[in-house]
Amino acid sequence: MTEQQALEHINKLKQDLALHAHQYYDLDSPLISDAEYDALMQQLISLEKKFPQLITATSPSQKLLSKPAKTFKQITHLTPMLSLANVFSLEELNTFLERLDKQSDFLCFVLEPKIDGLAVSLIYENGHLVRAATRGNGKVGENILANVKNIASIPKTLPQSSELPEILDVRGEVYMSYQTFEELNNLQLEQGKPLFANPRNAAAGSLRQLDPQITRERNLQFFAYALATGSKAEHWQNLQFLKELGFPVNEHCQKLKAKKDIEQYIRDFQIQKVSLAYATDGVVLKVDSIAMQERLGFTGKDPKWAVAYKYPAEKSYTKLLDIIPSVGRSGNITPIAVLQPVLLSGSMVARASLHNFDNLFQKDIRIGDTVLVQKAGEIIPEVIEVDFKNRPNDSKIYELPDSCPSCYHPLIKLPGLVAYKCINSKCPAINQKSFEHFVSKQGMNIKGLGRSIIALLIENNLLHSPADIYQLSLEQIANLPGLGQKSAENLLAAIAESKQLDFANVLYALGIPHIGYKTATQLSIHFKSIDKLMTASKEDLQLISDIGEKITESILLYFANPENIVLIKKLQAAGLNFTVTKTTASPSNSKLLGKNIIFTGSLETLTREQAAKLASSFGANIVNSISKNTDIVVVGNKAGSKLKKAQDLGLKILNEEEFLNILK
Ligand code: IVH
Repeated sequence: MTEQQALEHINKLKQDLALHAHQYYDLDSPLISDAEYDALMQQLISLEKKFPQLITATSPSQKLLSKPAKTFKQITHLTPMLSLANVFSLEELNTFLERLDKQSDFLCFVLEPKIDGLAVSLIYENGHLVRAATRGNGKVGENILANVKNIASIPKTLPQSSELPEILDVRGEVYMSYQTFEELNNLQLEQGKPLFANPRNAAAGSLRQLDPQITRERNLQFFAYALATGSKAEHWQNLQFLKELGFPVNEHCQKLKAKKDIEQYIRDFQIQKVSLAYATDGVVLKVDSIAMQERLGFTGKDPKWAVAYKYPAEKSYTKLLDIIPSVGRSGNITPIAVLQPVLLSGSMVARASLHNFDNLFQKDIRIGDTVLVQKAGEIIPEVIEVDFKNRPNDSKIYELPDSCPSCYHPLIKLPGLVAYKCINSKCPAINQKSFEHFVSKQGMNIKGLGRSIIALLIENNLLHSPADIYQLSLEQIANLPGLGQKSAENLLAAIAESKQLDFANVLYALGIPHIGYKTATQLSIHFKSIDKLMTASKEDLQLISDIGEKITESILLYFANPENIVLIKKLQAAGLNFTVTKTTASPSNSKLLGKNIIFTGSLETLTREQAAKLASSFGANIVNSISKNTDIVVVGNKAGSKLKKAQDLGLKILNEEEFLNILK
């Protein structure tokens, strides 16, 4: 990746993060899950690590994004309200611990549940609650004293004691229990008001009410987790002191030292958290000694003495209410599970993937069953298995459809698999999905052209082929229901902007079966223009690593269809990029493209996960085991048996620095 490309990518990530932070903090209405937000932030952090010259003071990796809302009075915090860096595996946690180990051998840690609510600072003067503020941008927050006074578990006055400092700044989390959240959403439903996505948004929405009476009715709760002024020598002592003063302190906090105990706590809490009455989104690990905390300091917005451990995936049982067939972009019909809504990784899940009919029948999943559902990071929730012990007598075996649920065209059965396909080239569902793919993030990335607007434009006869997107005019769309002048203008601007995207995006957007973004990038780099790609022979195509029989055939078939050639010509005429321009990746900066790479041992500056993400952003395939097909082995400290095997096989072995160098 060139610096120019990194800059473009970083700018794009910053824009997305700003949008999502605004939705989350200011509007209490997130568009993506926390895990998805974390993944965007991780991408930004790893790119900035690679190109430190591109880090700016205003980057969301360096600061907290939310601006204080205008309607509340602003309050400057006595000391900044910090955020926490995340780790997503025990390995990454280990890297964090090892880094601290270098500072001192005798560190103790306090482990605490990470409560999924919103941070507040409570200021007590001579034992009286005089100020309360949200985190805001970390430096300045909103004055929410009137509302906080309506939270029963927050003490308004503290017991007088000689230990009580004049000013006490208590930090903690305001949250809503699952039960209150459910009751509130039932009420919202009855009153025809929008539902809250999760308890945290409900808590935030309830605390940032201009009418404190509403906060009172919402039954919010509080856990204190730090003392920002008036601190004792150790964080653990602070927690005990807060308890004595009458603050609720979470009962699952523990002071630990040995690495194995820390890991055990994390494993145990994963089980315990399921039966808690409130949502948690991980474990916070803090250095106990306050002197040590001060010595370690911060990087940007995150303290170096604390980290949040996030659990990888969340699973839960729920009832399978129905199975419905869904039509994909290629016409393949796949089963979708309709679920009794269940809270997973902080958001309500009502639909999940059943992958394909084979999977459905192999696992003997029936309507009415209790099923285990999993949501892992950005991945769409999926049904993993049936709880057979709880199968009701009237559970129903799913009957395969014989016609397309969208156009009622008879389905064809593909050989071998329980796979069905709609082959009606005019099928509305296929059409809709093709447009969604065309404008998706890795495709033409047209913001504002979401599912419902696409449907609206199709309904109004404005979209027949993706090329029509580039012919839309303001007169045609400004008066459509639900669009309006301003959104129409924004949409046209986003469409115009998409013409700047790379050939790889365009190639991906075309939706050639089996061509994902990675393959599209490989093809664009190799052939450099659509003309060369269109005339490539089977042999030419198979010269590229990873491109096998299936992809080759798919490409040849696509370009043999005159309709597709017409589409390409129209898109070319509209000004889309069908050649590689200077700023696109070229083989000289794509040394990892298509290479099988493995990381082993602990690296110095990157976690293995970050390194893997970085390598994959350069087109490498990350593999988990070493074989003669492995191209590159990157070794860190304590690499162990994998290093030996790599040496035995005579593979290319790099250390972290050498790995980073080849990316330059
Ligand atoms: S300590 C310097 N402890 O997590 C560290 N934060 O991602 C500041 N949170 O803004 C926070 N439970 O809203 C800390 N036991 C806990 C927490 C906790 C939840 C939240 C808090 C913070 C966010 C950072």
